[in-house]
Amino acid sequence: MKVLLATQKPFAAKAVDGIKEILVSQGHEMALLEKYEGKEQLLEAVKDVQAIIIRSDKVDAEVIAAAPQLKIVVRAGAGYDNVDLQAAKQAGVVVMNTPGQNSNAVAELAIAMMIYISRGQFTPATGSEISGKTIGIQAFGNVGRLVGAKAKALGMKVKAIDPFLSAEQIEAGGAEPVAELKELYSGCDFVSVHIPATPQTIGSIGYELITSMPKGATLVNTARKEVIDEAGLEKALEDRPDLKYITDVAPDNYQRLLERFPLRVFATPKKMGAQTAEANINAGLAAARQIADYFATGNTKFQVNK
Ligand code: 3PG
Repeated sequence: MKVLLATQKPFAAKAVDGIKEILVSQGHEMALLEKYEGKEQLLEAVKDVQAIIIRSDKVDAEVIAAAPQLKIVVRAGAGYDNVDLQAAKQAGVVVMNTPGQNSNAVAELAIAMMIYISRGQFTPATGSEISGKTIGIQAFGNVGRLVGAKAKALGMKVKAIDPFLSAEQIEAGGAEPVAELKELYSGCDFVSVHIPATPQTIGSIGYELITSMPKGATLVNTARKEVIDEAGLEKALEDRPDLKYITDVAPDNYQRLLERFPLRVFATPKKMGAQTAEANINAGLAAARQIADYFATGNTKFQVNK
């Protein structure tokens, strides 16, 4: 089978080599499309492939239609909001992700971001420490649990909420369960967001939640920009000069936020949560193994469009 590795944001070379090694050892062929400029290049590259490995690359109905032999798409990572699941299903294409494989990298970035903003973005201004503060984790999945464990090790008190977990499960993961989202926001110095972008979550974090945070609080977003109501965020930062926002996913109004609220907002220039060699290797190799396994045995354990 021909497997296309299509990554606008390339994996580390070692990950690419490892992916190729797994695929070739299983009798497959790998084509590489890195740092492509536009969709046209992707549409051309998918024409004769049976499988695609992607990161945040968009695989929509047009891409799927351009790949008549396509059988499987694996998103080497957690969030699959960049894939049209319905179009894939209609075309008989299996979509998978590689849950947990890049979580540690994202969790480390969330912690780093909290320290960075608490220290005035490394300016000489007097900052504050995260030890002794309370962090609220919104969604206690693979990344959320790792953030909680690291925060605890740094002396923070950890609270969490997750609609898919019981209070006992959250407790077992080392956090104090919180029943209502508003309670999480109003009771934590930091809230770290780890929800996926879905029709239910898009725009769900806005003025009301953000302004319910206590004095001096910080909202940390290493999830997706779409989950924030950007107008609500801007108004919250305007009305509450003590609040801060740090994110791995620049909001559309970022330049204005920067001008209006210097040192209280920061966004990475490019999404970099999962951009470590380790995460690239873990997620990339898992994707290659899942594809090889799917073609060999039909294993659909990680399918997300059943
Ligand atoms: C994910 O959903 O796995 C992360 O957001 C990483 O995305 P990336 O592979 O585009 O860096």
